[in-house]
Order: sequence, then structure tokens, then C-alpha cells
Amino acid sequence: MASRLVRTLAGFAPYGVRRSVAGAIVDLKSLPGRLSDRSRWAEPWSFVHNVGNGDFQAIGVMLLDNLKDHAGLKADDQVLDIGCGNGRVAAQLAPLLRGAGGYMGFDISRAGIAACRRRYSGEPHMLFAHLDVWNGEYNQRGRIADVDTVFPAEDGSIDLAFATSVFTHMRMPAARRYLAETTRVLKPGGRFAFTAFVLEPGREASADFAFKPFDETSAAVDVRYPERAIGHRRTSLEAATAAAGLIVARFWRGNWTAGGGYNGGQDLYLAVKP
Ligand SMILES: C[S@@+](CC[C@H](N)C(=O)[O-])C[C@H]1O[C@@H](n2cnc3c(N)ncnc32)[C@H](O)[C@@H]1O
Repeated sequence: MASRLVRTLAGFAPYGVRRSVAGAIVDLKSLPGRLSDRSRWAEPWSFVHNVGNGDFQAIGVMLLDNLKDHAGLKADDQVLDIGCGNGRVAAQLAPLLRGAGGYMGFDISRAGIAACRRRYSGEPHMLFAHLDVWNGEYNQRGRIADVDTVFPAEDGSIDLAFATSVFTHMRMPAARRYLAETTRVLKPGGRFAFTAFVLEPGREASADFAFKPFDETSAAVDVRYPERAIGHRRTSLEAATAAAGLIVARFWRGNWTAGGGYNGGQDLYLAVKP
């Protein structure tokens, strides 16, 4: 009740303040778990960079399991984490990839990348890059247009790229650019796992995500601030994926609305570079 009131009030605050207040609530909820487990003391604080509700460790484990179960993650993969946030998945990948694998995570949040670099400074297989790309929710002062983004990875160097809860904050032109960049950096046969709110007849909204029409490809919870939460029509997203040169291998419906079929909130795609 109290946290709902704080969230409501925070809804009127500037976007940075709003995200920090919501992040502080996440921190408070996870405090007992963190204090009782010494291995969790190094976890980042959500009020510094808020990547969403839920426990840092529990969500990280769930996302890792999905990469193993649905995207064939292996210990010797070269992995690219697109929009890595504050390292929620990196924390789970670091021990797995130590030895034969490699990891590059990038994000537009300076604070998120700073937290990741501090935590993994002694782990040469864990690399992080900050890109000052504009986003209406996470980086309104970004100097690089999202449609001009260049990923920090060489052509044909990545086995597995993934983007969890990133296309849910990007309009379709930016998503098209990210799909094209993913194709560029993947090796032939490389895989791309990405989540999205995928809109199709009968699955176009839920109590938490009341999407309203935004443009011909997408719908947003608040059309004044589409990057807060945006869903893309299935036909448009799959056309964009194909136009980028990727083949959709599998699609799983998430639990954000009725009809979910795997253990994840958002819908999940696995695409492959031929
Ligand atoms: C909901 S959080 C998810 C973070 C992370 N993928 C995870 O699952 O823990 C969304 C992240 O996307 C990042 N982001 C937003 N727009 C981006 C862009 N154009 N390029 C890269 N990252 C972006 C935000 O800074 C934020 O860290």
C-alpha cells in the first residue's frame, strides 16, 4: 500500500527521480536476502540504476536458465549482452564463461556500466562498454541517436547475443537498427535471444501493461513516453527480424498476459544468423 503510494507520487517526478525512487523500493525489498547472504553484498543498488522490479539474483538466475534452455548457451560461447543494465545476467554468466568463454555487455547507463566494471575489474573475460545513446526512459541526454548505434563488437565475432527487456524500451526504428547490428556481429550460425511485448490478436494488453496504439508497428503504455514500456506487433517485429537477415527459430509466449508458455515475463524469440 505504502509502496503503491510512493510509486504513484513518483509517477509525477522527472524520469530519473522516478526510476531512482522505484529502485529504492526494490532495494528495500531485497535487503533482508542481501544482508543474510555474504555472497550478495557486492550486488548493485537499484536506486543507482533501476532495471526493473524483482530480486536481482532470482531474476538473473531465471534469465540464465532461459539462455541455457532456449538459446543453447555454452561455457565456451562469446556472448554479447545488449543493454546489460547493472549486470543482472552478467553475475550469473561470469562463473560459467570463466575459462573458455567471453562476455561483452554494453548499456547506455553510465552508472550501470560503472557498477559492472567495479564488480568485474579482476575478471578479464568480463568486458563492459558504455554507449551514450539516447533513450526516452533511460538516457534523455544521450548524444548518439539510437538508430545510429554501433555495437562494441567486431563483425562475425559473437556466438550468442541477447537482449532482455531492451526492445520493450525502444521504438521500432531503433529495434531495426539493433537487429541489423546483431546480424553484423554474429558468427554464421550465431544465435540471438531477445524478449519483447509481442502484440497479436487476443494478446494486446494486460492489467499491468495497458498498451494503447502508438504508431503502425507498436503500442505504448503511455504514448507520451513510449520508452517506458512499448510493445511491437508480431508481424512488424518478425518482418524487421527477417529484414535484418535473421531467421526466427522459435517463439515463446511470456506471462505478461494470458497464454504464457515458458518461465519468463516477456515473450521470447530465438533468431539465428544463417
Ligand atoms: C529493463 S532494463 C534490463 C536490463 C538487463 N537487460 C536485465 O535484464 O537485467 C533495460 C536496460 O536497457 C538499457 N537500454 C535502454 N535503451 C538502450 C539502448 N538503446 N541501447 C542499449 N541499452 C539500452 C537501459 O539502460 C537498461 O539498463
